[in-house]
Amino acid sequence: MAKAYDPRDRFWRKAKKEGLRARSAFKLDEIQRRFHMLRPGGRVLDLGAAPGGWCQIAAREVGPKGFVLGLDLELIARLPAPAETWVADAFAPDLPERLRREGRAPYDAVLSDLAPKTSGVRSADEARSLDLAGRALGLSLEVLKPSGFFVVKVFMGGDFESFLKQCRQVFREVRVVRPEASLARGSKEVYLVCREPRRIPESSTAPDRSTPESGVGPGGFLTPSRPGVT
Ligand SMILES: C[S@@+](CC[C@H](N)C(=O)[O-])C[C@H]1O[C@@H](n2cnc3c(N)ncnc32)[C@H](O)[C@@H]1O
Repeated sequence: MAKAYDPRDRFWRKAKKEGLRARSAFKLDEIQRRFHMLRPGGRVLDLGAAPGGWCQIAAREVGPKGFVLGLDLELIARLPAPAETWVADAFAPDLPERLRREGRAPYDAVLSDLAPKTSGVRSADEARSLDLAGRALGLSLEVLKPSGFFVVKVFMGGDFESFLKQCRQVFREVRVVRPEASLARGSKEVYLVCREPRRIPESSTAPDRSTPESGVGPGGFLTPSRPGVT
């Protein structure tokens, strides 16, 4: 039998006790313990960052010489340095340019815990969620360093497999992770931990990594340019 949903479960209580703004912080904490993608002095972009739990974990890991930029449609209450926050839409067409101009891109890690407001219609919610993941993937290819990590939330089901395939085409290594804090809620969410983008746009540092097979269109955004990839 499925577990009863408990909004104040042990992760919620632990977050309160440790001064973390969201129980989801423990998801990133677990991923970090396994993959060590956040390193001292690193620069991190956190997409869908409100209320700021992931920013807190990322700031702890990169330390005072690092930088964390948390971005959300919602206002995020001020966080201490090295975290900075913007109210911004991940879909804003000028975002990559703004990140390079004012947001200290390129980054060592791009994180996405982006999630839509749920409508209750499962297929619509899954599709919207995948749109967000796709946008995060496109952005990551625009602003990641060649050695960078991309961590993205995706829901199993729907077009999950084709998204996974797309990530595998554009990153050298992709792992699928289901953190304990997601399991505890019986959630279908998983996180893809991707490292080393194969294609770096010209504005970044490694033009030799470009590959015409990536399925990524001009500007780094995903295009259904290969058979079987949507
Ligand atoms: C699950 S919450 C993130 C929780 C966060 N990781 C934390 O630890 O505090 C998902 C967030 O995605 C944001 N979001 C959804 N669509 C967005 C968009 N187009 N641009 C920016 N943020 C968006 C929502 O406003 C919401 O705050």
